[in-house]
Amino acid sequence: MDRLIINGKRCLKGEVKVQGAKNAVLPILAASILSKGKCTLMNSPALSDVSVASDILEFLGCDVQFSHNTVTVDSSGADKYIIPATLMEKMRSSVMFLGAVISRFRKAVITQPGGCDLGSRPIDIHIKALRQLGVEIQEEQGIILCFCDEIKPCKITLDFPSVGATENVMLASCISKGTTVLVNAAREPEIVDLQNFVNAMGGKISGAGTNEIVIEGVKELKGCTYCVMPDRIATATYLCACALCGGEIALKGAAYEHIKSVTDVLIYSGCDIKTYGNDVIVLKSQGKLSAKPLIETAVYPGFPTDAQPVITACMCCAEGKSVVRENIFSDRFRYCSQLKKMGADINIVGTGAFINGTESLFGADVEAMELRGGAALVLAGLKAEGKTTVTNVNYIDRGYEKIEKVFSGLGADIRRETDEG
Ligand code: UD1
Repeated sequence: MDRLIINGKRCLKGEVKVQGAKNAVLPILAASILSKGKCTLMNSPALSDVSVASDILEFLGCDVQFSHNTVTVDSSGADKYIIPATLMEKMRSSVMFLGAVISRFRKAVITQPGGCDLGSRPIDIHIKALRQLGVEIQEEQGIILCFCDEIKPCKITLDFPSVGATENVMLASCISKGTTVLVNAAREPEIVDLQNFVNAMGGKISGAGTNEIVIEGVKELKGCTYCVMPDRIATATYLCACALCGGEIALKGAAYEHIKSVTDVLIYSGCDIKTYGNDVIVLKSQGKLSAKPLIETAVYPGFPTDAQPVITACMCCAEGKSVVRENIFSDRFRYCSQLKKMGADINIVGTGAFINGTESLFGADVEAMELRGGAALVLAGLKAEGKTTVTNVNYIDRGYEKIEKVFSGLGADIRRETDEG
C-alpha cells in the first residue's frame, strides 16, 4: 500500500483547480443506469470510489469509459440486477445502486454496503422508504432481495434526513406513474446536483435543497451530458491546509456558498477569505489561528461531518481551547489517536474532542484509518516540524484526486512511495 512522506513547516502558495465532487458523482453514476442511452459526465474526479462505481456499472452490463475527468456510461445493454458482495463491500455508496436498479429492473439483489468505518451505518431508513414505495424487501443472511410489480408513488417522511436515503427515494421513484413527495429530505448540495442530473435526463424533480422534494414520475429517461459540481469537502480540506500552514492559495472552480459553515470558522480563527467571480476563493493565513470554542457537526447547511477531521487538525494548533462535537457519526474520532502521536493535545469524551491548541506538531509515523481522518493526518504532517509518514493512503485516494500533487503544487514537500510487489 502507498504512503505519503511529508517534510512539514512550509507555507502554501499557489492555485488549485477544485476536483469534481465525489459525493455527487457517485449517486449520479448510479442514476445513469436509468437512461437507456449514453450519459457523459464532465468534471468527474479520478478517484478509487469512482472506479468502484464504474466496476458496478460494468458488472450490470453498462459500457463505461473514463478519460480526462469525463466518464461516459452507455447503459443500453444493462441486463443484470444482482450486485455481488465483493463489489458492494468496496464502498458505502454502492447502496445508491439499490434505488436505481429497482427502478430499471423492478428487482435488485444486493448485500450490505461497505465503506469507511465511522461507527454504525445502518440502511434502515433506505429500506423503510423503499417499502413505502411498494418494494417488497427480504433480508436473508446479509443478502437483500428486492422486487416490485411497479413503484407506487406516495408521501414519505424520513425519520432522519439521510443523504443516501433521500437519493435512493429520488432514484427509485423518478420513473413511475404518479408523484412522490419526500418530507424531511436531506438538503445537501449533492442532492441538488442529482436532481439536476435526473432532470437533464428528462426527469421531473423539484425542491432539492429544501426539506421537501417532489418527484413527478416520468415514463422514461434519456441520455445527457452533465457537468458534476465542485467538491465542497476537498475545497474545505485545501482551505484548512492553508489556514493551518500559513500562506495564500486561490481555489478555482469552487462553490463558496456550499462551504460557508467552514469558512465562517476559518474567518473567526483569523484567516482572510475573499471570493472572486462565481467560483474563485482566496484564503490568506499567517499560520497562527485562534481556537473556536465550539464547532458542532450537523446536517447541511450546518458544519459538515466530512470536514470535522480537517478542522480538528486546525484546532490542534490554534491558540486556546476548543471542543469539536460530532453529531452525525458515532465513531469519527479514531484518527485523533494518530494526531496525538504528533503532539496534539486532544481528549475524546463521548461525542466531543476536547482540544488544547499547541504551538506546533512534530513529525511521526501515522496510519490513515479512513478517508477524511487520513486527510487530517496529511494536514498535520504539512504543519509539523520534521518528517511525517502517512500509511494506508488508499483510504485518502477514495476521495482526493492526487492529494500529493495538489500540495506539492502549493509548495509543500510531500511525495508518494509505493511498495514494490
Ligand atoms: C453521505 C456522504 C458522507 C457524509 C454523510 C453525512 C455520500 C456518498 N456520502 O453519507 O460522505 O459523511 O452523507 O453528510 O454522499 N443513518 C441511519 N440509517 C440509515 C441511513 C443513515 O441510521 O438508513 C444514519 C447514519 O448511520 C449516520 C447518519 O444517519 O449516523 C447520516 O447518514 P447519511 O446522511 O445517510 O449519510 P450517507 O448517505 O451514508
